[in-house]
Amino acid sequence: MGEVNLLHRYPRAKRNVAARHVEQKQNSQIARSFGKEYFDGAREQGYGGYKYDGRWVPIAEDIIAHWGLKPGDRVLDIGCAKGFLVKDLMTVCPGLEVFGVDISDYAVRNCEPEVVGRLHVGSCENMPFPDNSFDAAISINAIHNLDHEGCVRALREMARVSSKNNYIQVDSYRTEEEKENMEKWILTAVTAYDPDGWRRLFSEAGYDGDYYWTITE
Ligand SMILES: C[S@@+](CC[C@H](N)C(=O)[O-])C[C@H]1O[C@@H](n2cnc3c(N)ncnc32)[C@H](O)[C@@H]1O
Repeated sequence: MGEVNLLHRYPRAKRNVAARHVEQKQNSQIARSFGKEYFDGAREQGYGGYKYDGRWVPIAEDIIAHWGLKPGDRVLDIGCAKGFLVKDLMTVCPGLEVFGVDISDYAVRNCEPEVVGRLHVGSCENMPFPDNSFDAAISINAIHNLDHEGCVRALREMARVSSKNNYIQVDSYRTEEEKENMEKWILTAVTAYDPDGWRRLFSEAGYDGDYYWTITE
């Protein structure tokens, strides 16, 4: 288990934290339905248009290299949204069998054409897959949408379906300033700790995979 940033090649976002802070409570309620407004509505309520642009290709390359994944291996993206990473993992490594699960019916119905049939609607707390059905599982910025107990359940569920190679990324902060930025920016996260707090939660869940943080700068 280790701290490793598999998203270090993800583009850094320019965020207008102050603009989102206005009406944040109302926007947060809308965002937490994970419907059209969250993915393809106004920026104040979520992504402001969640469109494929290839930005996950370098991350897919790093994930494949990190675990030495090869054609025939089965990978699960938990909180896969419209399946951008699912698609890019299969493009970078033809023959890799990649699947996704997400709570959002809207995202799955509006997924990339290449991943139709590979994405399931469901919660990371209770996934519709047999034990040990994957060689690797990834979850980026999804489980923190649950409360503390939900995060513990989601991590145990991840280990149930994939016992070998796991990576989790969650909202976190290392300074008071980062904490303030995060609180003004995030719409959907329910649980956010500093790295030590997250490590305690990982240990409570018995999670022994890799992990890293999403910091709002
Ligand atoms: C911030 S987005 C991240 C999407 C994608 N992983 C990425 O990094 O671009 C959070 C995703 O988690 C999904 N989500 C929220 N709660 C979930 C749950 N309980 N189980 C599975 N997915 C969930 C949302 O629908 C959304 O697609």
